[in-house]
Amino acid sequence: MRAAQISKYGGSGVVEVNKNAPKPTVPVGRVLVEVYAAGVNPVDWKIREGYMAKMSPLQFPATLGGDFSGIVEGVGAGVFAFKKGDEVYGRDGSPVSGSGSFADFISVDAKVTSRKPKNVNHVEAAALPLTGVSALQALTEHMGLSKGRRILIHGGAGGIGTIAIQLAKHLGAYVATTASEKDIQYIKELGADEAVDYKKQSFEDIIHDYDAVYDTVGGETYTRSYRVLKKGGIIVSMLEQPNSDLMKRYVVKAVGQFTQVTSERLTKLTELVEKGVIKVHVDKVFPLEQAREALDYQQQGKARGKVVIKVKK
Ligand SMILES: NC(=O)c1ccc[n+]([C@@H]2O[C@H](COP(=O)([O-])OP(=O)(O)OC[C@H]3O[C@@H](n4cnc5c(N)ncnc54)[C@H](OP(=O)(O)O)[C@@H]3O)[C@@H](O)[C@H]2O)c1
Repeated sequence: MRAAQISKYGGSGVVEVNKNAPKPTVPVGRVLVEVYAAGVNPVDWKIREGYMAKMSPLQFPATLGGDFSGIVEGVGAGVFAFKKGDEVYGRDGSPVSGSGSFADFISVDAKVTSRKPKNVNHVEAAALPLTGVSALQALTEHMGLSKGRRILIHGGAGGIGTIAIQLAKHLGAYVATTASEKDIQYIKELGADEAVDYKKQSFEDIIHDYDAVYDTVGGETYTRSYRVLKKGGIIVSMLEQPNSDLMKRYVVKAVGQFTQVTSERLTKLTELVEKGVIKVHVDKVFPLEQAREALDYQQQGKARGKVVIKVKK
């Protein structure tokens, strides 16, 4: 089978499409999925570059990719939730598993797999797992966002941001977001009540006394964000760990989120997509042969919404 693999850490040049990669096996508790499409996330090029090498060293050659949508080809012992022919989506988030989604087949834990939303195609479904579950976990579980609350979402035009805006509006919140000028119209169309062009304006000069901040950017954007919260507010960051000095100074709660994709959270996401609450925004689709270019495009920050690899021709 075909698989976009790396045999060492590095820049885009290390990605090669191996046409003779072995088809993965289906051990106990796992599902073998024929991959129709695979979503590209920043973590995929971070893994390629070796950011996670100390924490989770790869065994080379390693197949890249986590998010997938496809059709069940077979199930391992102990798996009763799925059968051959089911349309599923999910994410194998473990870079050490050896079987990634940028390939014709993936062997994935049944616990991180769910039924694919019926109203979207495989390319759209593959864009959802990590970004959708990230937004869901942050806004509903950490923040408990509800009607009338005010939230600032950083990176509103990104993969996570586009879903977070739609989810926050569905929960009844007032939504402000940061984005570049080129994306302001786009995030307003997604439902944002207020947009700050982060390259021209300081968001903390405009936004005050908010209940929540969802940070998908990190760095100084994160530290400056404490100032927009009211006492008792909450900041959830996808990149930074809580800063205890700032938490004490502003009397707020801070959470550094590690997104955990589970079947339960994916099932909630499926319901929201099928109800039309969350619409998927795919910016560009690449064939598997151009996995290298797909990663570059994501890394260069050119995408509005998601980048997806269409694996099945
Ligand atoms: N902790 C976890 O478990 C976890 C899980 C998923 C993702 N993440 C991380 O979360 C981050 C976001 O993921 P993503 O998939 O949403 O990435 P993405 O699709 O690349 O989106 C990032 C967005 O941020 C915008 N941006 C960049 N600098 C900004 C700034 N200073 N202020 C406001 N917006 C800015 C970019 O727009 P421009 O066009 O203006 O550059 C882009 O729209 C990544 O670093 C990813 O690795 C962490």
